[in-house]
Amino acid sequence: MIYFDNAATSFYKPKQVKKAVQNAIDFYTANPGRSGHKLAQMVAEEVFNVREKLKDFFNATNYELIFTKNCTEALNIAILGTLKSGDHVITTTYEHNSVLRPLEHLKNIGVEVTVLDCNLSDFCYNFEHHLKPNTKLVVTTMVSNVTGEICCVDKVSKICKKHNIKYLIDGAQASGHIEINLEKIDADYFAFAGHKGLLSLTGVGGLFVKDLKGVNPIIFGGTGTNSINLVQPSDEIEGFESGTLPSISIISLGAGVDFLSKNLKNIIKKEQLLSKYLINSLKQLDFIEVYSKEDSVNVVSFNIKDFDSMMVANLLNEKFKICVRSGLQCAPLTHKKLKTVETGAIRVSIDFNNTKEEIDYLIYALTKIFNG
Ligand code: ALA
Repeated sequence: MIYFDNAATSFYKPKQVKKAVQNAIDFYTANPGRSGHKLAQMVAEEVFNVREKLKDFFNATNYELIFTKNCTEALNIAILGTLKSGDHVITTTYEHNSVLRPLEHLKNIGVEVTVLDCNLSDFCYNFEHHLKPNTKLVVTTMVSNVTGEICCVDKVSKICKKHNIKYLIDGAQASGHIEINLEKIDADYFAFAGHKGLLSLTGVGGLFVKDLKGVNPIIFGGTGTNSINLVQPSDEIEGFESGTLPSISIISLGAGVDFLSKNLKNIIKKEQLLSKYLINSLKQLDFIEVYSKEDSVNVVSFNIKDFDSMMVANLLNEKFKICVRSGLQCAPLTHKKLKTVETGAIRVSIDFNNTKEEIDYLIYALTKIFNG
């Protein structure tokens, strides 16, 4: 089996992650932040340590970190917890439905939404003209989950600061695949998933928040703090983490980040080489249309001209044991822009465990499929 679906979730988990999971199952199964006994305290300490590790990894010492169950929940907290009726928000055509759908929902309560149709890398040169007096938030992905294109987040953030507008970055596809320095970018929110580039189990993601006071909780319940008070606390992390935390997934995330901290430079180097190799190999084939540019981050989308992407993905799976994702990848507006709504696109998303030989085999398989 060749796994090229790492943008959906990473397949390979380092042995440190597996070991941490086994250890957590054996010794860290109590409920953190609730009971006061020794076992619960041990887990709470581990959760605290992972929070600190993530802050170090993203250079986010001045941020609060809310643990969520995935990146979608993190994005929902930032979007639904920030915007209210009468506010205006600007976003891009490159967003995943985890951004587009909450925004569509907010239109019902009178939030104005502008979706800017320009290249992600040019967004910083275009969105300023679309600001209004009621613009409250700008949302962009850091890396497109369809094309792998990178957004000019530093510039977007500076412009947002100038106008006193909040900036939310969707880091789902960027985390673990490029260097990210949140102090330098200085966005208000950064959402991420654990199970993709950060190599954890599923069930954990997070939202870095500059100022908790500017965001309201969207999930209500027990926090293990100030239990006599029926009002949800909104000035402390716990107020955004109601319910039992996925501590085993969180511990696995800590181990993933430990691994990445030691290896990130080499990982990035290898992944960039493989992405370029893949794009160049695809471009040699005149029956392939490639939608990603040479500097794309890990994600390369293409089609066999006039073939339906789902049909090709099924053949890759059944005849060649190659796992890719096809269709719209939950990013319908990106596909509108690429004019691939009808066919979808085949998406190959690599990670550092993939090899040139696997890419060569994919090229062989695509040629076989094209030739029938
Ligand atoms: N958002 C994930 C993807 O792009 C699931 O495949």
